[in-house]
Amino acid sequence: MTLTVHDIHTYYGRSHVLQGISLEVADGETVALLGRNGAGKTTTMRSVVGLTAPHRGTVELDDTDITGMPTHQIARRGMAFVPSGRRAYASLTVRQNLALSTRGKDSPNAWTLDRVLETFPKLQQLGNRRAGHLSGGEQQMLKLGRALLSAPRILLLDEPTEGLSPAIVADLGRWLAILKKERTTVLITEQNALFALKYADRGYIIEKGLVRHEASAESLRQSTEIQRYLGVAASA
Ligand SMILES: Nc1ncnc2c1ncn2[C@@H]1O[C@H](COP(=O)(O)OP(=O)(O)OP(=O)(O)O)[C@@H](O)[C@H]1O
Ligand SMILES: [Mg+2]
Repeated sequence: MTLTVHDIHTYYGRSHVLQGISLEVADGETVALLGRNGAGKTTTMRSVVGLTAPHRGTVELDDTDITGMPTHQIARRGMAFVPSGRRAYASLTVRQNLALSTRGKDSPNAWTLDRVLETFPKLQQLGNRRAGHLSGGEQQMLKLGRALLSAPRILLLDEPTEGLSPAIVADLGRWLAILKKERTTVLITEQNALFALKYADRGYIIEKGLVRHEASAESLRQSTEIQRYLGVAASA
């Protein structure tokens, strides 16, 4: 599924946050959206999924204009958004959370419940625990598991490594590598730029609500200038 964002302008009140963002994620591509704190990464994702409608510009999924469409309709078209922070149904157990996200049997999905539990074995052990009692890393796995069960054709991941231990970040990396191999379409933001660029095909650097730079992940990984700008240690 191809995502095409053309010249979007998004405001919070009178604050003009996105000032004409354009980007594309081609079918099967993994694209990193990078930038310093407050650059507009989360706002770009929220604008794409209809949580904060852009005032101007267009968002297209394949050839359909989805600009300003309600979020649940965009989700039904195959887009899954995994926001940063804690956002699982806190009072439900892990198993109930996963069951809620599982599509009917007739919906073809490469990610069955068994496969999700195999990929994130921790979720199996935590089956009866209430989601509100999970650690940050466990919640993150639950959110990813739920997104996969919804049979996404495109996944938007907002800072998936935020607050995770190095061991869980490594798990996440293995999982991103699987998604890439299976050519799932992914847009990912990360503070940990080098982590995202390891799995991305291309990347965009945004600054103050505008795209400042676009290049292959490989060339962004090798640019000391970009790394200095993003504040990442070259050894990360
Ligand atoms: N709900 C809101 N109301 C008003 N301003 C907001 C709101 N959310 C974000 N902003 C502002 O919009 C700008 C872009 O924020 P955004 O969250 O998109 O940045 P980001 O690139 O995701 O940053 P971070 O790396 O810290 O997550 C910032 O200046 C922020 O202060
Ligand atoms: Mg953000």
